[in-house]
Amino acid sequence: MFITFYPTWIGEYGSDAVPISRQLWLRKMKAIVAARLGGPEVLELREVEDPVGGAGEVVIDVVRAGVNFADLLSLRGRYAAAPPPPFTPGLEVSGVEGGSGRPVIALLTTGGFAAKVVADSRFVFDATELDLELAGGWPLVTVTAFFGLSEMARLRPGETVLVTAAAGGLGSTSVQVAKALGAGHVVGMASTPEKREFALRQGADEAIGYDDPVPPVDIVMDGVGGKVFQSALSSVRPLGRMVLFGASSGQVPEIPSFDALRRRNIGILPFSLGMLRASDAVRTADLATQALNLLRSGRVAPPIGRTFPLAEAAQALEMLGSRQTVGKLLLAP
Ligand SMILES: NC(=O)c1ccc[n+]([C@@H]2O[C@H](COP(=O)([O-])OP(=O)(O)OC[C@H]3O[C@@H](n4cnc5c(N)ncnc54)[C@H](OP(=O)(O)O)[C@@H]3O)[C@@H](O)[C@H]2O)c1
Repeated sequence: MFITFYPTWIGEYGSDAVPISRQLWLRKMKAIVAARLGGPEVLELREVEDPVGGAGEVVIDVVRAGVNFADLLSLRGRYAAAPPPPFTPGLEVSGVEGGSGRPVIALLTTGGFAAKVVADSRFVFDATELDLELAGGWPLVTVTAFFGLSEMARLRPGETVLVTAAAGGLGSTSVQVAKALGAGHVVGMASTPEKREFALRQGADEAIGYDDPVPPVDIVMDGVGGKVFQSALSSVRPLGRMVLFGASSGQVPEIPSFDALRRRNIGILPFSLGMLRASDAVRTADLATQALNLLRSGRVAPPIGRTFPLAEAAQALEMLGSRQTVGKLLLAP
């Protein structure tokens, strides 16, 4: 929208008043706003002013915004990196860079659930070879899975990897990234037969339920916590590593004592992409570029479970939080 101000007298020069006609462009866009803390019901679709980029930032016309469990946590006030309300959630997008028209994907600190977003240029990556209608849900999970497997667990070719919630966004991507990095055997854990079937389709060699016996593994990728964490922990071989991403079950992992871990020779490695970015943006962006090459080579393509219109962001988050989804969810502005 633009607003026109017809001849406006804004000053006098000498004895003559000077009429000046100005147009003020106040462009507006649609965005999802968390008006207060709570569940998905606090989200509102609003018209807000277009964001304006500063130094070192780019404005992106969003094609797709990825939905993540962290968005739910940010609504609840339980995601450390989220701003206080009112704010627009959303940690990743695909889209077109303003000015250049270049196709890009971006990792954000907030603001993705909108028609436009401002991004730190260090976390905007070329997406020329990618399908923008899918890639909005790719960067966050691909980068997280890569950091977990390659940097934290230091996966070596042939090792066995156990992935919990293996049909979910991070889980299904971890299965793909583990195979791409040379894992010998990948075991996917998930709650239902349909989800286990989904994990197998992402490349898992074996899929088990949470109550099934767990085979011995070298590496665990866990974002569920609670009892699932305990069961996965019991399966780790000596010299094994367990990367902890979060607690979608609502129960944070109860990490055993120094002595208990030392007896078993197991490494427990909590990881947060947001905190790593906050503490060392340059290194995070550099390694993210390596991770995203897995997308460009076609070796990793996180599955998209469903795309919702932007206005249905609350429904998407409701389904994510109640275990009704597989793969990644997207919003289309
Ligand atoms: N640290 C990081 O940098 C980072 C980055 C990305 C994600 N994460 C974390 O990784 C986890 C997965 O995130 P995501 O966005 O990819 O979500 P997601 O895995 O697509 O969805 C969550 C999954 O968790 C499982 N789950 C188990 N108990 C649950 C419960 N009580 N309520 C809801 N879900 C439950 C469900 O799979 P089943 O039905 O198969 O159990 C569900 O589908 C989250 O903990 C998230 O915070 C962390």
